[in-house]
Amino acid sequence: MIPTLKGHWLLGSVPEMKRDFLGMLVRAAREHGDLVRFRIGASDAVLVNHPDLVERVMVSRMANYGRDRAFYRAARSILGTALLINEGDSWKRRRLTFTPMFHRKVVERSAGTMVAATQRLIERWRVRPGTVDMSQEMSALALGIVGETLFGSDFEQDAPGIAAAEDQAAHDVFAKVQMPFQIPGFVPTPANLRLRRSRRAFELPLKKSLARARRSPDEPTLAAMLLSARDQETGAPLEERHILDELIGFLLAGHETVANTLTWGLALLAQHPAVAQRLRAEHTAVVGDRDATHEDVARLTETSKALNETMRMWPPGWFLPRRALQADELNGQRIPAGQVVWVVPYVLHRHPAFWSDPDRFDPERFANEKEKGRPRHAFIPFGAGQRMCIGAAYAWLELHMVMVTLLRRFDFALAEGAAMIPNPYVTLRPRGGMPITVSARPTA
Ligand code: HEM
Repeated sequence: MIPTLKGHWLLGSVPEMKRDFLGMLVRAAREHGDLVRFRIGASDAVLVNHPDLVERVMVSRMANYGRDRAFYRAARSILGTALLINEGDSWKRRRLTFTPMFHRKVVERSAGTMVAATQRLIERWRVRPGTVDMSQEMSALALGIVGETLFGSDFEQDAPGIAAAEDQAAHDVFAKVQMPFQIPGFVPTPANLRLRRSRRAFELPLKKSLARARRSPDEPTLAAMLLSARDQETGAPLEERHILDELIGFLLAGHETVANTLTWGLALLAQHPAVAQRLRAEHTAVVGDRDATHEDVARLTETSKALNETMRMWPPGWFLPRRALQADELNGQRIPAGQVVWVVPYVLHRHPAFWSDPDRFDPERFANEKEKGRPRHAFIPFGAGQRMCIGAAYAWLELHMVMVTLLRRFDFALAEGAAMIPNPYVTLRPRGGMPITVSARPTA
């Protein structure tokens, strides 16, 4: 029998989920092992927390584990049929449509834009150094980069509206998931009405990108590609609302995740000056005085280790819920059809069998020889299997370009009130932001 975490007699784990979801999951895995059941009102979910089991759910038996209905039904009010939550043949066709645009060789062309956008931020900080909310700064930076490189748009004016809609939507989607009983999206509850408003707020800037793509269909933007895409069977173009679904999906998946990693990364480096020093020495040796390019990434190994360790501790995609379509067996335990299973990188990345002293920041865990001893699916910041992050190569490039450009020119220190407390919504952001004091380096 799969052990069940003790909870409230009627609501099960719901009160604890609301209070401290991450803490609850970590504790449950520590106390009960690699499979733990949670009661959530009338339903339940099983945490799957071992690399071999993750491999089965996400790779070898991937077809048997669909998107979890509760989570994705809640997200549908915002994302519609976007790749992120789409399933079956429709997902497969769209994934094939987008794949060429995210090939490493194609995304490498964006490196210059990534560095230039970071330099514009640096100029701003140079004029007004001091304490900033790094979470907001990185979010605006990543939004600007995704806007320029994928949407052919400057989202600067729209950034506050997008950020506000994001906060509200993340809150509402997660609140819906945590309800013991689900209310369908068409019922005009206050939360559902707010979700519709958030959707309209995302649509506004994206409709501009779409209008531009209609005028200039040859520009290499997602909108232009979606406008020219044809259904393989019917030959029909995509409906506008489906194009908007995809654009919203890429807008959201493509910047918050990167912004989270950069924010946590800078906060960790501020706390570990010796590591920051190693990264700067590496930058001097590999890049020197010129701007970083995509060709540097493979040689920026210290930076890669620090970024990996950041995503181990604070994986932006921290929660990957699935639902078994047919009965299966995990670790000799029966998983009935319809069972919701949770793969939680945040907990997996702290599994004591693979990560000693898991709450300690130690990029050396990602040194080559240590990597070799670990099962492949002990570390899954970009997911695993066919549904792995389509933007992984883009994100990896952006993380390196931004991080080395910032570290070269600025010092970072945690400011008063900074706390490494994660807010487990759709992505894993720092709760209450991340106040960091930025000061130009003497040599800059
Ligand atoms: C550090 C940055 C990023 C992290 C940690 C990350 C993480 C992830 C993870 C864990 C998944 C799998 C979700 C699941 O299996 O349920 C995923 C999927 C996805 N990501 Fe990312 N991501 C990042 C950046 C990006 C970027 C830059 C883009 C686009 C520009 C992007 C677009 C997507 C899309 C569209 C999917 C859905 C793929 C599918 O289901 O076929 N991501 N991401």
